[in-house]
Amino acid sequence: MHRITTGRAAPIPPRWAVAAGVGAALAAAWWLGDKAPYPYAQRGLLDVPLPFLTADRMDAVLQPRPGERILEIGPGTGLQSLHVAPQLGPAGRLDVLDIQQEMLDQVMCRAERDGLATIRPTRSDARELPYADETFDAVYAVTALGEIPEPDRVLREAVRVLAPGGRLVIGEFFDRHWIPFGRLHRLADAAGLHLTERRGPSPAYLARFRPCTADAPGHQSERLAHSDRDTNGGKA
Ligand SMILES: C[S@@+](CC[C@H](N)C(=O)[O-])C[C@H]1O[C@@H](n2cnc3c(N)ncnc32)[C@H](O)[C@@H]1O
Repeated sequence: MHRITTGRAAPIPPRWAVAAGVGAALAAAWWLGDKAPYPYAQRGLLDVPLPFLTADRMDAVLQPRPGERILEIGPGTGLQSLHVAPQLGPAGRLDVLDIQQEMLDQVMCRAERDGLATIRPTRSDARELPYADETFDAVYAVTALGEIPEPDRVLREAVRVLAPGGRLVIGEFFDRHWIPFGRLHRLADAAGLHLTERRGPSPAYLARFRPCTADAPGHQSERLAHSDRDTNGGKA
């Protein structure tokens, strides 16, 4: 039996429109879903300073001090590493951890060129940090957290390796791996981190957190930890 239809048949979209739609869907899937590490072949772009994530702002939020031991997650070619490490002085140490050996090699090459002997590279996945509990005075990751699958795990690992009173700085920029500030704040809350400073709008920000355990009795506050360290003349 034939069904009788009275309406007009829907127009068939032209082939180019179908192709454009499929292309847009694929591009969106890539933009939103791709979690591959930043390609080493495009490393030249990593040296371009990003608006709002300037060296001055980084210093103001991270507040690196002589004698501190700090961990950088996802250093890329070392834009931040080469700026932070000298501020830790000869008694301090910057550990850089990246999943790509080429990136670490590049950082170390540049460190040697600059006469910096206090940077230690480790190739590993930031979701399982190969360091003991309470190792670092500070941990930071700039435009790296959003690139790593399971950023919640990375935050929990950062909390684990931070010494009491330690600080975590996250920098994010509006690219395809960007974590909007609101999302980071929720992830940080869930990981037991408390926001202490934020600079820049959500598309390009630096935010500092400290583990909530720093408020618990028996733990030093961030300020106290620093003043102790100053009077102790630095900590290796
Ligand atoms: C966009 S680059 C950022 C580089 C640098 N922080 C900067 O601002 O120039 C992200 C870095 O995170 C690293 N990365 C990606 N996934 C990682 C993972 N699971 N564990 C550790 N590092 C990772 C990449 O290899 C890359 O060096």
